[in-house]
Amino acid sequence: MSETPEEPAGPHRVIGTPFPAPKAVDVHVEPTEPAFSAEPPAPRHADNAERLVAALFILAFLAGVAFIWAFVAIEVGVSTIPKGANPVVAAMRSNYALGTTLSVALLALGAGSIIWVRHLTPNIEIEEERHDLPSEPQDRQAFSRDFAEGAAISQVTKRPLMRRTLLLATAPLALAPLVLLRDLGPLPQTDLRHTVWRKGLKAVTLGGLRPLRSADLATPGSMITVIPEGYQDDANALAKAGVILIKFAPGELHIPTNYNGGTLVSTMNWTVDNIVAYSKICTHVGCPVALYEQTTHHILCPCHQSTFDAANGANVIFGPAPRALPQLPLMVDADGYLAAASDFTQPVGPSFWERG
Ligand code: FES
Repeated sequence: MSETPEEPAGPHRVIGTPFPAPKAVDVHVEPTEPAFSAEPPAPRHADNAERLVAALFILAFLAGVAFIWAFVAIEVGVSTIPKGANPVVAAMRSNYALGTTLSVALLALGAGSIIWVRHLTPNIEIEEERHDLPSEPQDRQAFSRDFAEGAAISQVTKRPLMRRTLLLATAPLALAPLVLLRDLGPLPQTDLRHTVWRKGLKAVTLGGLRPLRSADLATPGSMITVIPEGYQDDANALAKAGVILIKFAPGELHIPTNYNGGTLVSTMNWTVDNIVAYSKICTHVGCPVALYEQTTHHILCPCHQSTFDAANGANVIFGPAPRALPQLPLMVDADGYLAAASDFTQPVGPSFWERG
């Protein structure tokens, strides 16, 4: 005897719709007020809106299919693009196709959803009463009782040896994050405030490691990068010690002065024959400043366009750098070469370190 398959309970469900209501059971339900009462939109208006929404959803579907096609069909790899084709152009073409199709798909989907909500669903204001947040006294009592019972069952209150050894076991784990701080390395101490420059250390050219006399920068407007002699292989030292020398014509350079309460205290003349030395490390985020405009005396940082006035203590005149490029005091040593008269008097590089 063949068995006939059982009829599914309830009506057939259509994909994309909620589950159908279960078969009616014989229970008497008091009629209630509908949860939301609002006028439905006019049928003609609703039909037009539905057609528009459907068109947008179809557009979204087509754009989605096009996105997948573009991803699969437009080759970007050097080994997969046609011979002789430019890989940059191929990548650009792929990006345009992917971006356009995805944008259209998302835009159409969003627009369709908005029209659906605004023109097909009723405009209803719903208020929800806020309830008091504190629990009822009996709930709190029940919680306290359950907690005490749980503690008693776990024996944590009755067995002090176990409790104390548990606390002991967890103590090192609580301290573990502090121990991990050691991996950050030794504290920098004052290293970040100093460079290897010191009195008498010669400035040598970056390329040829040649010491310089002031006569070597005879032409006003010239700029040259120098490093401290003997440190050409010390990357750590060079990271902070790069310096630019700039030669000025007589009268062009404004020597910074130091006033206290309106009284001239000192003239900070750290130059030699109108040659001035500034740190090469930008005070913004540390890029090497590399460009010098002879006519305006501006030093430019190529990273974010900070501009420093070389004729006025390398003060910032434009850009995000928060302070002037530190100046290296210059002198002529016993051999007649340009050398440092001391280390920088301010930390070089990003001003973050000054705040530490
Ligand atoms: S690093 Fe120089 S402007 Fe940002």
